[in-house]
Amino acid sequence: MKIAIVRERADGETRVAATPETVAKLIGLGNSVAVEAGAGTLARVPDADYATAGATVTPTAAEAVKDAEIILTIRRPTPAILAGAAKGALVVGSMDPYGNEAEIDALAKTGVTLVAMEFMPRITRAQVMDILSSQANLAGYQGVLDAAVAFDRAFPMMMTAAGTVRPAKVFVMGAGVAGLQAIATAKRLGAVVSATDVRAAAGEQVESLGAKFIMTEALKDASGAGGYARELTADEKAAQAELTASHIAKQDIVITTALIPGRPAPKLVTAAMVASMTPGSVIVDLAAERGGNVELTKPDEVVTTANGVTIIAYRNVPARLATSASQLFSRNLFAFIDTLFDKKTKAFSINWDDELVKATVLTRDGAIVHPNIKLAAPAAETK
Ligand code: NAI
Repeated sequence: MKIAIVRERADGETRVAATPETVAKLIGLGNSVAVEAGAGTLARVPDADYATAGATVTPTAAEAVKDAEIILTIRRPTPAILAGAAKGALVVGSMDPYGNEAEIDALAKTGVTLVAMEFMPRITRAQVMDILSSQANLAGYQGVLDAAVAFDRAFPMMMTAAGTVRPAKVFVMGAGVAGLQAIATAKRLGAVVSATDVRAAAGEQVESLGAKFIMTEALKDASGAGGYARELTADEKAAQAELTASHIAKQDIVITTALIPGRPAPKLVTAAMVASMTPGSVIVDLAAERGGNVELTKPDEVVTTANGVTIIAYRNVPARLATSASQLFSRNLFAFIDTLFDKKTKAFSINWDDELVKATVLTRDGAIVHPNIKLAAPAAETK
């Protein structure tokens, strides 16, 4: 089969969906691979390395995609990029379907089968394919580094001849994959770290990293389906806000990572909470891509408030570590593709009833097939 990788077109996207390592593995499964020239440039993968791995490097995306049966991608491509692909081609990557149902429908109509890797179930077999975890882990790390650079004091306690520098206080809101990595990174830099989450299970994980877990009695546990959080009730939100307001006022750095699947990011840090922080404090909003956890967040901007608090809200944080992020993302994609090939005969066969396939396939044979993706009903026609 022919597998294609094209240069990502989205603004600020630096990652690439295959590396020479995964290209060689895809070829090992009996495929040919075409890579658009320059696809890996921003992730520091030269075209020559893809060629050495056995890929054909094509001058244009159209040549790479022509007759391809599998297209690997970081973000959802446009129908124009996919023109010329084989009928029913599999397009595998992050598809961001919620709120973009019309775009998904337009892609469905081109006949491609879209596979949304972010819908991969969190079961043991699929851990190796979990793009959310691999990218969130890097984002948690980078978020702390971004905070440290913007912070005009030291993170660790320093005992010097000129006196002692107190350690920075870091508060992490949302202790999932990104939050736990943020805690670990801040600890390594020597900060005093606390964290909160609405899932009770997160408490143990936070404490095992040596951070203090902050959680209100009123909020016992807001675990939802699939290990994710559910949205809080109004009473729970109020209890959480009361607890965090007094805590945030004493922090130097706040890193927010809270997300609820399929919903805008919950607003956890109000303008009043930001105003309560001391000048020079830094907030990194890692939920900016989904609207942000901080009321004053301006996605893709770094703003400093009147009271001297810097709010950093890059939308695509994994793209700030393009090489590592591409390496992990491409391995996640390969792990999924690998399951579609018979190891002995090298024949391609997709089991549409497989749990992983059913959970991730958005479109097939010209239509949206995923139960969670609904196209808005067309407005009633008036005569
Ligand atoms: P996520 O990216 O959806 O959300 C980040 C964190 O924000 C979560 O821990 C969530 O509970 C928290 N959150 C949501 N609303 C909040 C609020 N109002 N206030 C404070 N925190 C709030 O979650 P992520 O990082 O994808 O992880 C979710 C869970 O899945 C974790 O328990 C993680 O350990 C687990 N997981 C399991 C895997 C597996 O078994 N294969 C792989 C990866 C994660």
